[in-house]
Amino acid sequence: MKNTPEHDARFQDAKLIGQVAWDGATATSERVLLRASVVNRRFVERNQYVCIKDESGPRTGFLARVVNGPFFHRSGAPTVAGMTASNSMECFLLADLEIQGELVRGRARDTNSRPAPNSPVFALSPEEVAGLHGFAGDMLVGNLSGQDDLLVSLQSKNKGVLPRNLGIFGTVGSGKSNTSQVIIEEAARAGWAVIVVDVESEYTEMDQPSDDAALAERLEQFGLTPAGVNDFHVFCPASCTSDRQDAESFTLRLADFDASVIAELLQVSVAERNALFECIETLLQKSRPKVTTSETEGLQPLLDASPQAKLPFTLKTLRERTNERAPRTSEAIDFTGLAAKLTWLTHSEAFDQVNMPSLDPVRMLAPGRVSVIDVSVANDVVKNMVTADLLRKAFALKMTRPDTPPTLLIIEEAHSFISRERAQTMQATLHMLRNVTRRGRKRWLSMAFVSQQPGHLPPEIFELCNTRIVHTLRSTHNLDALMATTGDVGRDLWNRLPLLGPGQAVLSSPQLHRSVIMSMRPAMSRRRFSQ
Ligand SMILES: Nc1ncnc2c1ncn2[C@@H]1O[C@H](COP(=O)(O)OP(=O)(O)OP(=O)(O)O)[C@@H](O)[C@H]1O
Ligand SMILES: [Mg+2]
Repeated sequence: MKNTPEHDARFQDAKLIGQVAWDGATATSERVLLRASVVNRRFVERNQYVCIKDESGPRTGFLARVVNGPFFHRSGAPTVAGMTASNSMECFLLADLEIQGELVRGRARDTNSRPAPNSPVFALSPEEVAGLHGFAGDMLVGNLSGQDDLLVSLQSKNKGVLPRNLGIFGTVGSGKSNTSQVIIEEAARAGWAVIVVDVESEYTEMDQPSDDAALAERLEQFGLTPAGVNDFHVFCPASCTSDRQDAESFTLRLADFDASVIAELLQVSVAERNALFECIETLLQKSRPKVTTSETEGLQPLLDASPQAKLPFTLKTLRERTNERAPRTSEAIDFTGLAAKLTWLTHSEAFDQVNMPSLDPVRMLAPGRVSVIDVSVANDVVKNMVTADLLRKAFALKMTRPDTPPTLLIIEEAHSFISRERAQTMQATLHMLRNVTRRGRKRWLSMAFVSQQPGHLPPEIFELCNTRIVHTLRSTHNLDALMATTGDVGRDLWNRLPLLGPGQAVLSSPQLHRSVIMSMRPAMSRRRFSQ
């Protein structure tokens, strides 16, 4: 396949720096030797990208990177005294080029070939290299590792990127939260609504500029200065305080959840589950005057967040019904056990609080708005129920209101929401997640899963994350889980993963033509506990 005429024209203007030399005895499939004039020394630095034109072969060009050199050589006829005559000497540079791929329609893709000797080698500008790799975009996230001038951006309007979900993985302290923050900043700047389930109360000061002096200089390299997010709001579940004074409380409403999701998140036994279903069914039948006829009509009650919303049941009425039925407890249907679990929910004081609004996606889905749900002091059940509530309500709003902006939900510590170990007993929650991602994608509802324990995530979650930012991981359990599910990352990149420093990551995405190692930029906004 030939390159496009525009692409060829671009390389005709490029700077010729040398030619491919003949192979020596130690030649390898991935490398060729560049022979260049010494005057072109500045183009022959390690990590510099070059384009090799090869009109004699089936490929018109190759993308390559300088990996060794430059080595300085001279050749010429020796004089009788064994000295080299300076006027007959030729000085030149040699450097090893690693073939990155062949160029097809202005993109680098994997190749099974190599360029022929004497093929001309051209320098590439950072913009050209970014274009060839597929780094060009409107969300500036960092630079190619080792190359400060090669900026890496993601595309906010590309359906293959955020709408096909994001996975951010890495060991403790590897840079996951900073990366999440960068994604939040850039998505909001590009007009997305962003909602974060904040398990450590880290993101609650993102309306302030970063005060991390150590990172300010690095931020400057990207032409950026510390800055807070403009349209910023913090929420927290009832009874859970937030250090943020102006955080707004919301109540969870039991009736907003599917009975099977409640059962799974409460980890009830089979007999307790039977009791739960029976009680909920009775209450629903009592309250529901008519059967809903369409999906959107069925989703509507979820979207009335006001304290006056009419609910088919509450935690209080469900408990009353369960207590009424307690004498009927048998081996198959355990009202008493269920009542104990519901009492525990009541003590959490997060459910069905009177005069309190519920989680309101209508307020959160505005272009450029960042909403942080601070669940740092909530117990695990409440945290997981907040996540489930958010997924379902954001989905309901997207289904009923096509005019809402693209929306990104960030789920921190995703492994504690759904783990590989619990996946078997959480089929309803997984089903809901799959449904929200599969159908939400077409409506620009996206998710970012953040986890330090990817080995504990069920494989389904990996399959959902088409763009992955993988920071350093050292445990083989976590690495294996990623290697098994990320087909487009080569062995060489995985081998480097345990050695990456904070902020460095393997980036793999449908937007890129091949996976790369990059350095994330620091966040512009403030993060608590970042020191
Ligand atoms: N892109 C970056 N550039 C420079 N330094 C970084 C970058 N990302 C992270 N760091 C440094 O690493 C530290 C840890 O980063 P961060 O808190 O984001 O990691 P984490 O993976 O979220 O950690 P934890 O597992 O504790 O949540 C930061 O405080 C910062 O000093
Ligand atoms: Mg973190």
